[in-house]
Amino acid sequence: MTTDIQAIQDEAVAGIQAASNERSLEDARVSFLGKKGTLAAASAGMKDLSNEEKPAFGAALNKARAAITQALDSKTLELQQSADKKSVEGIDLTLPARELASGGLHPLTIVKDRAIQILRRMGFALADGPEIETEYHCFDALNTPDDHPARNEKDTFYFDGGKLLRTHTSSVQIRTMENATPPIRIIAPGSAYRRDDVDATHLPVFNQLEGLFVDKDVKLGDLKGTLKYFLQAMFGGETEVRFRPHFFPFTEPSFEIDVKLHVAGQEPKWIEVAGCGMVDPAVFSTISDKRGDQAFDPEHVTGYAFGMGLDRLAMIQWGIKDIRALVENDTRFLSQFA
Ligand code: DAH
Repeated sequence: MTTDIQAIQDEAVAGIQAASNERSLEDARVSFLGKKGTLAAASAGMKDLSNEEKPAFGAALNKARAAITQALDSKTLELQQSADKKSVEGIDLTLPARELASGGLHPLTIVKDRAIQILRRMGFALADGPEIETEYHCFDALNTPDDHPARNEKDTFYFDGGKLLRTHTSSVQIRTMENATPPIRIIAPGSAYRRDDVDATHLPVFNQLEGLFVDKDVKLGDLKGTLKYFLQAMFGGETEVRFRPHFFPFTEPSFEIDVKLHVAGQEPKWIEVAGCGMVDPAVFSTISDKRGDQAFDPEHVTGYAFGMGLDRLAMIQWGIKDIRALVENDTRFLSQFA
């Protein structure tokens, strides 16, 4: 009997060593050690043995189980090691890793975020309005007469039914004043649309940042100080800023703002970055009529407004010469900002 066990052990160990994959190894384990396996069947013979024979038989069984288990363990390890080796075959682990492309923000987003950050620190809250606007919000309420050139079909995208793509973000001034009471201190970044031919300085869709401050006793000095501070925060404390008298229907007096641009090897030159002015009392009167209350009574409130070209700010910031680079999505251009 004991010799039978030795034979089973030898056969099992040989079978296990011959296994060439996990599947055949598992089959071997089941056939030798399983509940219905050879060793279990052999041990059933124990009950037919005399008491003297039993200990030796038991010892042989234990020895066989231990030897088979050990053979299984070392074969499992061997198969794993050879699988691991195969999986890295042909791979040169000393090669440097492939570089991961990292994303980056678009230059316009960078400029817009910085402008918002600076102005929010100065107490301006974000406001918003629709890009598909009514003539009322885009022109009439902004004191822009019917025959103003900006309202021309040649300059503005009109929809059937009279709505239009806003030609400036100034419409957000009106929407804000319809829904809030002074003091109001808001900024509204967003897109604006004009029927311009595309060239190095014009796109039919561009980006502005509107500002509006309405309170008691807002003065021209507040407007100038705020915008000068803002532009120096954007472009550096040395930046020269100039307010040039201009005309806008919704502000009086009105100005265009220039910053002096220094490019190495060139004469410094003034570049226009924004329009601004003191809110025209006519605008407050229109708002008051629409609201039917005294919140914007031009006798009691004053305010200033400004509208900046965000594309222009980006072009100044990085010396970009052609506005089209901002919309062409050429990664050779964009990756410089990543
Ligand atoms: N909306 C004007 C434009 O697009 C810019 C502007 C000028 C905005 C004066 C203002 C302002 O708020 O006060 O040309």
